[in-house]
Amino acid sequence: MEIAPANGKLGVMLVGLGAVSTTFVAGVENVRRGRAKPIGSLTQMATIRLGKRTEKRAPKIKEFVPLAELNDLIFAAWDPIPDDAYTAAVKAGVLDQHEHLDPIKPFLQSLKPLPAAFDQYYVKRLQGTNVKRGKNKRELAEQLREDMRNFKKSEGLDRLVVVWCASTEVFLTPGPAHQSLEAFEKAMDQNDQSIAPSMLYAYAALMENVPFGNGAPNLTVDLPVMERLADERRVPIGGKDFKTGQTMMKSVLAPAFKARMLGLAGWYSTNILGNRDGEVLDDPESFKTKEESKLGLLEAILQPELYPDLYGKVYHKVRINYYPPRGDNKEGWDNIDIFGWLGYPMQIKVDFLCRDSILAAPLVLDLALFFDLAARAGLSGIQEWLSFYFKSPQFAAGLYAEHDLFIQHTKLKNTLRWMMGEEQITHLGVEYYEYADR
Ligand SMILES: NC(=O)c1ccc[n+]([C@@H]2O[C@H](COP(=O)([O-])OP(=O)(O)OC[C@H]3O[C@@H](n4cnc5c(N)ncnc54)[C@H](O)[C@@H]3O)[C@@H](O)[C@H]2O)c1
Repeated sequence: MEIAPANGKLGVMLVGLGAVSTTFVAGVENVRRGRAKPIGSLTQMATIRLGKRTEKRAPKIKEFVPLAELNDLIFAAWDPIPDDAYTAAVKAGVLDQHEHLDPIKPFLQSLKPLPAAFDQYYVKRLQGTNVKRGKNKRELAEQLREDMRNFKKSEGLDRLVVVWCASTEVFLTPGPAHQSLEAFEKAMDQNDQSIAPSMLYAYAALMENVPFGNGAPNLTVDLPVMERLADERRVPIGGKDFKTGQTMMKSVLAPAFKARMLGLAGWYSTNILGNRDGEVLDDPESFKTKEESKLGLLEAILQPELYPDLYGKVYHKVRINYYPPRGDNKEGWDNIDIFGWLGYPMQIKVDFLCRDSILAAPLVLDLALFFDLAARAGLSGIQEWLSFYFKSPQFAAGLYAEHDLFIQHTKLKNTLRWMMGEEQITHLGVEYYEYADR
C-alpha cells in the first residue's frame, strides 16, 4: 500500500471548544514543550509487535507508521460560546491552572473559536452568541466550508481533519432527508428540522475532502448520505461517541464474562457528573441520544441469541445525573449481577472515579492522527479499525459493530501491520512447537 508521507502541517479543526477540546489542545502543547507525558495515547506511547516473538521487533507505533508529528499540528475550533481556549479551559476546570494552563497562556488565548453553526433547538441547555447567520442551513454549511479553506490557506496547512467534540444533540433518527445528497441539500435549503448542526459540519468537511470523526453520539456522519459522500469523495469517516469511562470498563468486563461462560442477570450503571456535558445531558432529549449509545454494546458483545441461558434476560439500565459539585470529576458506579455454576448468583461493584476529559483527550489526538493517516493511505468511508475509540462504532452495511475492546485493539494493530505490509499476528505461536520439536 502506498502511503503519502506526513509532510507539512496538519490542521486539526475541533467542533466545540469545551472541556474535552481544551484538555486536548492544552495537553498537546504541554507535551510539545516537554512539560508532561501523553498518557493514554496509543499513537504516542504504544508499541507494536512485528513478526515472530523471536524476532524481538516492537517499534513504537509512531515510528512504524508515518504519522503527523505533534509539532506539525495547528488547531482551530468553532464554538457558540466566544471564550478563547484559555478562558474555556479555566472554566472547564479539568487541568490545573498553575501547572498546565498558565505556562502556555498566550498559546491558549490565541485559539479563539470561530462562530458556530448552532441552533438551540438541538442543544436545549446552551445559549450561544458566537453563531453564524444565514438565510438557510445550506448557507451555514457553505460558511463552514469557507472556514476550512481559510484556515488551510492562512496557516499554510498541508491537510485538515475535523473532530466533533461539541455537545450531544437531541435524539434524531435517520429520515428521508438523510438518504441522498440531493435530498440532503434540498432539506438544507428548506431549513428542514431533521438537519442538525452537526450534520452541516460533516457535510462541509466531506465536501472539502476532510476526514471527519464524531466524538459524540449524535447521528452526524452515521447517515446514508454521509457514508455515500465519503465513499464517493474518498474521505475517511468514523464515530460515534468517545469510549472513555464506564463504557470502556463495560467493553472489558462483558467479554471476560462471556469468555468464561458466566451468566449475566443485570447491569445497573449510574453516573454523577457536574460539567457542562452533564448539564447538557440533563436534558432528556440529549440524554436519550447518549443512552442509546451506551445501551447497545452489551447485547452486541453477549449475543443473547446464541446464549439464551446466559444472556437471554439481562436487565440493563444506564443513568446520568447532573451533580455540579463534581465538575469534570465524574463518578460512575456499576452494579453487576452475574451467575455461575448451577446458576448461583454473584455481584461485582465497580466504582470508577474518573476524569472524563482526561480520558477523552488522548482519544482526540489518536483519532486526528489516525484519520489523517487513513486519508494519506487512500482509505475512505467508515474506518472500522478505529472502532477501538468509540462507544457506538459505525459499521458497514450488512455487518455488525465490534465492541469488545481487545478485538478492537487487535483489529487496529493488524490494520497498521497490513498498511505497512507486515504479517498479521494471530497469536497462534506454532513456532513454539516447531522449536520444541527440534
Ligand atoms: N469526556 C468524555 O469522556 C466523553 C466521552 C464520550 C463523549 N463525550 C462527548 O464529547 C462532547 C464534548 O464533551 P465536553 O465535556 O467537552 O463538553 P463541553 O460542554 O465542555 O463542551 C462542548 C462544547 O461544544 C459547544 N457546542 C455545542 N454545540 C455546538 C455547535 N453546534 N458547534 C460548535 N460548538 C458547539 C458548546 O458550546 C461547548 O463549549 C460531548 O458531546 C460529550 O458527550 C465526552
